Amino acid sequence: MKKFHVLIVGGGSTWTPGLLKSLCVRKETFPIDHLTMVDVDEKRQEVIGEFAKVLFKEEYSDLQFTYTTDLEEAYEQPLDFVFVQMRTGGYAMREKDEKIPLGMGLIGQETCGPGGFSYGMRSIGDMVKLVEHVRATNKDAWILNYTNPAAIVADALKRIYPDDDRILNICDQPENLLRSYGRLLNRDPRSFDPVYFGLNHFGWFTHLYDESGHDLLPELRQLILDGGFRPVDYEQRDQSWLDTYAMVEQIVRDFPDYLPNTYLQYYLYPDKVLEKLDPSHTRANEVMNGREKRVFDACREVATNQSTAGSTVVHNDAHGEFILIVAESIAYNRGDHFIVMVKNEGLISNLPDDAMVEVTASLTANGPRPYAVGEIPVFYKGLIEAQYAYERLTVEAYLENSYSKALQALTLNRTVVSARKAREVLDELIEANKDFWPELR
Ligand code: NAD
Ligand code: G6P
Ligand code: MN
Repeated sequence: MKKFHVLIVGGGSTWTPGLLKSLCVRKETFPIDHLTMVDVDEKRQEVIGEFAKVLFKEEYSDLQFTYTTDLEEAYEQPLDFVFVQMRTGGYAMREKDEKIPLGMGLIGQETCGPGGFSYGMRSIGDMVKLVEHVRATNKDAWILNYTNPAAIVADALKRIYPDDDRILNICDQPENLLRSYGRLLNRDPRSFDPVYFGLNHFGWFTHLYDESGHDLLPELRQLILDGGFRPVDYEQRDQSWLDTYAMVEQIVRDFPDYLPNTYLQYYLYPDKVLEKLDPSHTRANEVMNGREKRVFDACREVATNQSTAGSTVVHNDAHGEFILIVAESIAYNRGDHFIVMVKNEGLISNLPDDAMVEVTASLTANGPRPYAVGEIPVFYKGLIEAQYAYERLTVEAYLENSYSKALQALTLNRTVVSARKAREVLDELIEANKDFWPELR
């Protein structure tokens, strides 16, 4: 069995320990002989890297493992798979992305609205650098990207590298939703055959077939209406995520056709969500005081003890497992079904061909073979077209250094609407992102 060369970009991510544990759990089904982690932040990389050494000594002793901060050296070594989960500007910039809009009464969120715009304008440059360097020496390596805002990153990379068919942008939220449906229905989520359409963080499940072809969606909808909705791992979630999942009930009550992605709450009820968001303590603060502290403290402890025994950080979570089962489906041409981002090209027949849509696909060694969805009803089409125009104008603003396209993008975003507010928030974001964005003229 071939053993793979794998690179993790953003090795200092809070999700890395979970991914590393998943690598250990799946070492028979996805065997690796060389693993490198790279991060621009030496301290973060060192803490997770030293944790990894202990974990691998215990569970993956034949693995050749290194970590580094030298991006070019990491990108240009021989590679089969590159797993990407970087955050340009770190949580410090996430905090600004959330707080600047909230300060003016607009949604402040990691990937939605002006926050997502701000983050997108930072992510594109580092992602392009990655693709350039990886492709200089690795024509065939698979680049599996989690980096957010994945919708903007996917659109930008498709425009810049239209012929590169080995970049796959993925999101764990549809997978998290499937697992949550599984818990509610008391069924194995991998047995589901879902039909899904939309853009990343902006989509709906239309059907959820079981092994016999029976659609479970009507029963699921009723369960949600009767008893609400929680994430599969609700015992471990912060309150803000429980609130987000709980909003699914409201969305289903108002728009009962399909089951929504949780991120739609920001676009459909910005006023209601705003009442819950605290401009002085946002999700970035919650993560920095919560997950980030927990993960880094636990990793330091493992390194000090030279043992993972009893450590809470060592678990095979959905995020890590998902990227690996995706990689396995590609590596062995298995054609398993996943919800991923692909170029529309008629899949959703009444949406633009060049939009990067999120749909179910069979994942093969030659990439995703997506399933057509057909025509979607006018309400969903209208919502998606405006969001797609926002995403496209964001990418064009970046590529063309265009202030006016940035202003158009933000005005089109359902969380903004007012052109006056769009200009106000854009000007503040430009100031905050001086070290990251291209100059907009
Ligand atoms: P994090 O800040 O803990 O980790 C990101 C790491 O990337 C940091 O250690 C940072 O130093 C590093 N980094 C920044 N710029 C880099 C660059 N140019 N090259 C290499 N490393 C770089 O963030 P996190 O919360 O763990 O999330 C990591 C990323 O994964 C984010 O982009 C997040 O939005 C994304 N994410 C995506 C999904 C999805 O569904 N697509 C799910 C979870 C997380
Ligand atoms: C989900 C989404 C990701 C997002 C993450 C944020 O997994 O699919 O795209 O980055 O949630 O989680 P956080 O806990 O950092 O707010
Ligand atoms: Mn996501």
